[in-house]
Amino acid sequence: PLVKELFGLSELEEAVRLKFGLRKVVIVAGDSDESDDVKREIGRAGSRVLAQSMEPGDIVAVMGGTTMARMAAHLKVSAPMKDNWFVPARGGLGESVDYQANTIASELAKRTGARYRMLHVPDHLSEDAYQSIMQEPNVREVVDMIRSARIVVHGIGDAATMARRRKLSQETIDELIRDGALAEAFGYYFDREGRVVHRMVTAGLRLEDIEAAGTVIGLAGGRSKGEAIASVMRFGHDDVLVTDEAAAEEALRRA
Ligand code: G3H
Repeated sequence: PLVKELFGLSELEEAVRLKFGLRKVVIVAGDSDESDDVKREIGRAGSRVLAQSMEPGDIVAVMGGTTMARMAAHLKVSAPMKDNWFVPARGGLGESVDYQANTIASELAKRTGARYRMLHVPDHLSEDAYQSIMQEPNVREVVDMIRSARIVVHGIGDAATMARRRKLSQETIDELIRDGALAEAFGYYFDREGRVVHRMVTAGLRLEDIEAAGTVIGLAGGRSKGEAIASVMRFGHDDVLVTDEAAAEEALRRA
């Protein structure tokens, strides 16, 4: 048992890293589905990874969710990051306020002495609404910052769970399931192969911005998310994954 404690998780980290071609994998012991303490540890580990990744002048775009909120609650820095910005990666996605990207961005800025900008725009827009809202200089300025983020931090969810949590219409949910949606991340839905199942007009981060970001960090745990994690890792634009033992085992099994 001692040997497993010392080497078990680092072997699993290396297996996941190689399987999905990641730069770095951090795995905490246990299963977030079973214990909230494990989700807290993912948050803590995620905050360390973020602190190590940040350089002066960086713009960090963050998504929402409960795991992201845990990460925000733990971020500590040794000196105020006056030259850094936190911005929400997406507009309002219909989450409760504690878990919205705007809330997480402001919390992170408060904890680190960095600056932040808010995006007060609903995420799902018609083409017409999108075109006119983007004419607003205030919105345009925030959107340009979001799209130039060097670091992106996000949670990963199971598609059906997230679609219900965000109160998508039953029709849209049925459509997503029919199209094979398994996972949700960045406000997008992915199938088993990591293909984006639905594209939409968004004022937030687009897929090409995620591809262009220097460091993309995913935070998610719990055995129930293993399949979703594997599908987002197949999408292939994450650099770092912070997860738990149960999700890592499940993701490898599904890969
Ligand atoms: O995009 C995925 C969700 O934000 C994950 O949310 O961390 O509350 O499960 P969660």
